[in-house]
Amino acid sequence: TRTYVVTGSASGIGATTAQLLRDRGDRVIGIDLKGADVEADLSTPQGRADAAAAAIEIAGGTVDAVIACAGISAPIAKTISVNYFGVTELLEALLPALAKSDAPRAAVVSSMASLQPNSPEMVEAALAGDEAKAVEIAEGLAAQGPEIGYAVYPSSKRALARWVRRESITPAWAGAHIPLNAVAPGTVVTPMTAPLLATEEGRAMVDAAVPMPLNSHQPPESIANLLIWLTSVENTHMAGQVIYDDGGADATLRGDDI
Ligand code: NAI
Repeated sequence: TRTYVVTGSASGIGATTAQLLRDRGDRVIGIDLKGADVEADLSTPQGRADAAAAAIEIAGGTVDAVIACAGISAPIAKTISVNYFGVTELLEALLPALAKSDAPRAAVVSSMASLQPNSPEMVEAALAGDEAKAVEIAEGLAAQGPEIGYAVYPSSKRALARWVRRESITPAWAGAHIPLNAVAPGTVVTPMTAPLLATEEGRAMVDAAVPMPLNSHQPPESIANLLIWLTSVENTHMAGQVIYDDGGADATLRGDDI
């Protein structure tokens, strides 16, 4: 039995991942705003620290794997705090507990939206660990309305993908024998996308931005199973990858440009 910490465990991809792990007999410590083993707000430094401390205590000191799914897509400044700092700071706080496992692993959820227009300044501020500056830039975008404010989301996911590439090869992660990777989904059918997918107009907008020639919109299981493999004992050498599991959206949009 392995002990997993899963964030965003109350809904969507995180809930499905937690359920599949429990069905296999693994132990899951869920973190979410509500309806989880650890109820915490990952948008604040205190919430992240409290969440990590509570999860480590419940785990008994050793965590075998972390799967970070919690995220929001709203065109508001909080999106950079939850999607970037709520992942990176939590993972860093859990590192000592991961280091005690004999097969530690970590995986996060980025998005194919990381390829959409974003704010390089916000991405840089986030990667520099400057939450105040990243939030200030996000507030500036959000103040210009939802269309411009939407860029906070792709910026948060791009910063997260870059953080994974940079960190995965450092002494803290690779040196501690911890594979660290990201999954980048296309359009997943969850409570996050339900309102958009409910109308023909919303679907047309989503499908224009995220073309999915292979099987169209995906179930959360398609992402959960990959997250589970990435954090399994079997993954010994994959590090720093951002895996587009997106019905072919990345191949359609980026083509040869890799
Ligand atoms: P969801 O909305 O169903 O679940 C997200 C969970 O995160 C919720 O339970 C929510 O309470 C939790 N959460 C939000 N803010 C939090 C906070 N401050 N502290 C603690 N927990 C918080 O969304 P879904 O679709 O399952 O998304 C999971 C991840 O996948 C997110 O990071 C999202 O950005 C990403 N993603 C989703 C896609 C989709 O099409 N649904 C596509 C690409 C990426």
